[in-house]
Amino acid sequence: MRCLEKTIAFVPTMGYLHEGHLSLIRKGRKIGDSLVVSIFVNPIQFAPGEDFEDYPRDLERDLELARKNGADVVFTPDDKELYSSGFQTHVNLKALPNRLCGISRPTFFSGVATVVAKLFNIVKPHFAIFGQKDYQQIVVIRQMVCDLNFDIEIIGAETVREPDGLAMSSRNVYLTPELRHSALCLYKSLQKAQALISSGIKDSEKIINTASEIIKSNTDTEIDYIAICDPQTLVDIKKIDRQALMALAVKVGKTRLIDNMILIP
Ligand code: PAJ
Repeated sequence: MRCLEKTIAFVPTMGYLHEGHLSLIRKGRKIGDSLVVSIFVNPIQFAPGEDFEDYPRDLERDLELARKNGADVVFTPDDKELYSSGFQTHVNLKALPNRLCGISRPTFFSGVATVVAKLFNIVKPHFAIFGQKDYQQIVVIRQMVCDLNFDIEIIGAETVREPDGLAMSSRNVYLTPELRHSALCLYKSLQKAQALISSGIKDSEKIINTASEIIKSNTDTEIDYIAICDPQTLVDIKKIDRQALMALAVKVGKTRLIDNMILIP
């Protein structure tokens, strides 16, 4: 495709496609002359004891959804195709993975950066589209693209939510109706944070404490982290006098969910 001087847009996914993924696919359709979607549950971004085996999969349905929403090619490699037995090269970033999700998932971003680098080399896209739902992931990928001179433009897409505000995620299928209700506390706490900032509160600690209370008032929740940080470096911000990223990870039952919002003073 590159030799035909056509542009390639690329949407990497782990499948079990929902509206969040489809919004990226439709965006990719508009951006590139051709659109490649990958579906690959990447084993190296799961730590032992995480949900690699149980991760929801439905390839037939995904293929149909990807095609219906504009994919020209759906790339579905298997583990052996990407990781031969002698595989030993990983992409590791120094600082960004030591923050937010990387603290409780120390090998996650190495797994993500490695597979995305491989997929970029295979697909050779001009544009790649990622969701801001996984905010730290985009920051990591942008840094990798810059550091390793990939000739690819990274495009961020807004988080798609259920009508009640829950961020769409393939992992939402793990939630029982009760847990699904508890899970709303992630978005509620982000909304409350923005409301506090709009009312003039600037102290991150106060806002994080309020968010924490909202989350803890729900049954079956366990906070992994709540952070307010610089949107580029992910370094904590104490006083919110400029745009800041509020990001959080919460275990609802056994399911770890993440969400974030850009807070505007
Ligand atoms: P996966 O979780 O399947 O997500 C694929 C893409 O969809 C990511 O860019 C993610 O940010 C985006 N996405 C997920 N939920 C979204 C939502 N509610 N709204 C908008 N976009 C959403 O992220 C991965 O897979 C993997 O780590 C991957 C990059 C494919 C590497 O293995």
